[in-house]
Order: sequence, then C-alpha cells, then structure tokens
Amino acid sequence: MDPLLDFTGKVAVITGAAQGFGQLLAQELAKRGAKLVISDINEAGVLNVADQIASTGAEVIAMKCDVSKNEQCKAMVDVAVESFGRVDIGVNNAGLAHEFMPLHNIEESVMDSQFAVNVKGVQFGMRHQIEQMLQQGEGAILNVSSMAGIGGAPRGSAYSMAKHAVIGLTKTGAVEYGRHNIRINAICPFFTLTAMVTNFADEEKQGKMGLSAPMKRLGEPKEIVAMMLMMLSPLNTYMTGQCIAIDGGVSA
Ligand code: NAI
Repeated sequence: MDPLLDFTGKVAVITGAAQGFGQLLAQELAKRGAKLVISDINEAGVLNVADQIASTGAEVIAMKCDVSKNEQCKAMVDVAVESFGRVDIGVNNAGLAHEFMPLHNIEESVMDSQFAVNVKGVQFGMRHQIEQMLQQGEGAILNVSSMAGIGGAPRGSAYSMAKHAVIGLTKTGAVEYGRHNIRINAICPFFTLTAMVTNFADEEKQGKMGLSAPMKRLGEPKEIVAMMLMMLSPLNTYMTGQCIAIDGGVSA
C-alpha cells in the first residue's frame, strides 16, 4: 500500500458514522488497515455500517454516541482504548443542519441545538481524544466544519455560528497541543450530496445550488473523504491548525 494512505494498525474513532461522510470515511480507513470505533446517535444505522465493514475482515466496533453528551463521548474513547489500546485518529464529524431561515427569525431552541451538537459535540470529542493522545505523545484530530464556518451562510446563521466555533476550537487546539505532537485540523466543505443536502433539495434545486460554485456543481462525498484521508495521512505530520475548504472554488 502507498505509505501516504497506509493506515495499518492506526486506531480511529469517528462520530456521526451511520451515513454520509462519516460512513464513507470509516469504510475507506478500514480498507487501508485502520481499526475503528464508529458511533452515531442512530445506533441501528451505525451497527449496519459496522456489519458491512466487519464483513471485509476489518476490526470495527460500533456504538451509540450522542455527541451532545460528554459522558457518551468519553465512553467512545474509553472503548477504543480498552479494545485497541490507543487512539491515533479522532474525527469529530457528527453534525446537523437546520431549516433555512432569516437570522431574525431563528428560534433560540435552534441555536441551542446547533450549539449542543455542532459545537459542544466537537469539544467533547476533542477533549477525550486529546486526553488519550497526551498520554501517547501523538495523535491527529480532524473536525468537520463547513464553508458556513468560513463565511456567511444566508438563512443558515445558527449553523454558520456553530461551524465558525468549530474553527475556533480547531485553531486553538492546534496552538495548545502542537508541542505534544497532536495535530488538529478541520475541513470546510461546500454543499455535498449526502442526506443533509438531498433530504431538502431535489435534483433541480441541487443543480441551482451548484451554479454558485465555479465548478458548477455540488460536491460528492468521495471528494470530501479523499481530503479527509490526506489530512489524516501518517505522512502528513507537520500540518496543524488548518481549515481546508473543499468547495469547487467557492472561496477562491
Ligand atoms: P449526514 O446527515 O448524512 O450525517 C450526519 C450524521 O451525524 C448522521 O448519521 C446523524 O445521525 C449524525 N448525528 C446527528 N446528530 C448527532 C448527535 N447528536 N450525535 C451523534 N451523531 C449525530 O450529513 P453529512 O453531510 O455526512 O454531515 C457530516 C458533517 O459534515 C456534519 O458535521 C455536517 O455539518 C458537515 N457538512 C456537511 C455538508 C454537506 O453539504 N453535506 C457541508 C459542510 C459540512
């Protein structure tokens, strides 16, 4: 296997892995030799993903984890350490969108749920991954932000607020833990064809949304996961605190 994408023996924990980016990343890491603890609030969904991965011979454990609950995030890391002895890779991917709505109409409850899952969920994941990585003296964390975390997102202000916070956590974590050889980065995708988008936009709407990108289309999950793999690569050992846009040129 090309050393750039050889994850043999690496232990990864991934949140939000029942579908979308999390599922595909789990499958790709498993193919490349990683041992996995995958989790989701959707327990049946993540168990299905684990069954499929286990059928290929890879080592995988699935568990329910609502990332807005600190103790459940701790349990996920504990399971990885008890079962596989360490955590090399932490991917804080679980997230949710909200109904498009002007900023002045956003309910407080929407901001609360965005903060609970998309911000606290990332911080809870990071804190337990970091605790373990400090003991190991190394580790790589990848948080999933969004283009909405870099710039304004019309009618998505609560989501944008939360995804900006993910970048704050990423950069601050990188600065705090760089000397411990813990790399912390984020990806910032534009609209990509997972359920998060296809559930609210039919093909015609997807086409229109894609026109705002210089590449004139939305992203494919495999294109996002390709960059996730490169950012987590065992050879990519000097990059930290970066928030990389994968956006068909939107931010160019
Ligand atoms: P998705 O909706 O297919 O997957 C999200 C997963 O997170 C689901 O399996 C869901 O059950 C899980 N989840 C939701 N709340 C949770 C909670 N409280 N605890 C644990 N798991 C929870 O969407 P996708 O696209 O795969 O999203 C992954 C990440 O990518 C999210 O953070 C999302 O905000 C982000 N993102 C997605 C973009 C897109 O256009 N699809 C663009 C930019 C960022």
